[in-house]
Amino acid sequence: MSEKTELGKSEYSLNTKQTGEALELLSNCENNSVSLVFLDPQYEPVRNVLRTDYPLYSQSDYQILRILEQAERVLKPSAFCLLWVNKTLLGNDRVPLWLLKTPSLKIVDFLVWHKKHTLGLGNWLRSNAEFCFLIQKYPQSGKLFKNRSFGNVWEENVLPANKRQHPHQKPRELIKALISATTNESDLIIDPCAGSFVVLEVCQELKRKFCGVDLTFKELKEFQQKKSIYANP
Ligand SMILES: C[S@@+](CC[C@H](N)C(=O)[O-])C[C@H]1O[C@@H](n2cnc3c(N)ncnc32)[C@H](O)[C@@H]1O
Repeated sequence: MSEKTELGKSEYSLNTKQTGEALELLSNCENNSVSLVFLDPQYEPVRNVLRTDYPLYSQSDYQILRILEQAERVLKPSAFCLLWVNKTLLGNDRVPLWLLKTPSLKIVDFLVWHKKHTLGLGNWLRSNAEFCFLIQKYPQSGKLFKNRSFGNVWEENVLPANKRQHPHQKPRELIKALISATTNESDLIIDPCAGSFVVLEVCQELKRKFCGVDLTFKELKEFQQKKSIYANP
């Protein structure tokens, strides 16, 4: 299948960092053409978490449901969606409600990223983990997950703030292991909320095709540049 066919009439390009809207990107992909959707939405404004005014929009439940509906349509049969959540999302019914409305998608496993050396205090318990649902499109089958020794707790240091391209950057080695386990060379991976575009870097290393966007890619880049000027006078 040619690249043009997989991305339909999309204006978006493969294997590049670009500004764009998640739902628009997915809506332009062809049915059953994608091997992995890496989905890491912005559940709440960053200032609520980090007390810094990053120029990032948060996504409503309705937007995230619409993204999952599109993921359901564009994924190949038995292909995976990796849905990242924080502990707040585990304590309410938001994820189950989205999945009730996307019946071909089922949670088949669950992974904890233990961030090791995180500092700071939490509201109740200190947050030193994030979580990822391994979701598979119908027909669900364990045979497509290629790494039988994958544990469901992954330890990887969070990058120090000054080395991160994005405040919510996910761990590179974990992404590499997950992409290796769920896809093959030249498969297409979609990252509709790409942030730092770390998934693009991994796709290039593993020879996967990547198409990803972030709504505020340009603004965030400019913001990070200004921040680093202030940090290093
Ligand atoms: C949690 S971050 C993603 C971090 C990324 N996975 C990484 O490892 O760097 C969520 C991102 O979604 C982006 N976003 C919010 N609304 C969006 C939308 N409608 N379309 C595309 N991106 C959006 C935000 O700008 C933010 O960068």
